[in-house]
Amino acid sequence: MTIALVTGAARGIGAAIAHRLAAAGHRLVLVDLNPAVRDSAAAMDAVAVEADIATAPGRAAIRDAVHAAGEPLGVLVNNAGITRDALVADLTEDMFRQVTRINLGATYELTSALAADMADDGAVVNIGSRAHLGNVGQFNYAMSKAGIVGLTRSLALAYAPRLRVNAVAPGFIATDMTDAMPVRVRERIVSRVPLRKPGRPEDIAGAVAWLASPEARYVTGQLVYCCGGRSYGTTEGTAT
Ligand SMILES: NC(=O)c1ccc[n+]([C@@H]2O[C@H](COP(=O)([O-])OP(=O)(O)OC[C@H]3O[C@@H](n4cnc5c(N)ncnc54)[C@H](O)[C@@H]3O)[C@@H](O)[C@H]2O)c1
Repeated sequence: MTIALVTGAARGIGAAIAHRLAAAGHRLVLVDLNPAVRDSAAAMDAVAVEADIATAPGRAAIRDAVHAAGEPLGVLVNNAGITRDALVADLTEDMFRQVTRINLGATYELTSALAADMADDGAVVNIGSRAHLGNVGQFNYAMSKAGIVGLTRSLALAYAPRLRVNAVAPGFIATDMTDAMPVRVRERIVSRVPLRKPGRPEDIAGAVAWLASPEARYVTGQLVYCCGGRSYGTTEGTAT
């Protein structure tokens, strides 16, 4: 049995990914800033780590928890992410820095910190966003998720042939993150989704589970869109 580590696992997409990987037979280490991660972990007999992936002490605590779990790390899912949306004139330096720090910088730093501990044939899956194609009101977020594409492709080359590294780009998924948007914005986005409905966290979990599984043994450095067909549009308003 190998360990699967999921960041941002207290709720939303991360929690769905954790459930799916547990069902696939992995032992889980769940990471989140939010103390609710302990309840999620208790429900699936997983290890909880309440930590900030963007700090060195946070990443050290995560690494210690992986070592203490006593099994090789087979799967790393970098899912934790934030939005701080604003039109460009209102975007503060702090909003810019927070989003790029957590979504991109910490993803790179945590992966580097854990790569040596990963089992041969291990899989890293990064959660990007179709917003990397460009979104008004999400300059910082779109940039951070575009960075995830370059990071994924570069790490795939750096760690091949030992590890595979891929990314999933969700479209509009119904979670607390998107519930924070005004209703009219949500309705407008869904009306532009070719499949005409929001995605569910489980839809992303399915794509992640496939990329993490031996079924995807010949797939590395790829970005898999899971967005109801919406990756064709590039000039719409705010959407994750
Ligand atoms: N919901 C969508 O429509 C959507 C679309 C595209 C991409 N995504 C991406 O999917 C991922 C999950 O999104 P979600 O909708 O489930 O979001 P969410 O806000 O519901 O959950 C994100 C979790 O990450 C945790 N987190 C944030 N910063 C952290 C940090 N520094 N250290 C540890 N944990 C931290 C939060 O506490 C939270 O529990 C994110 O990377 C997001 O950008 C979401």
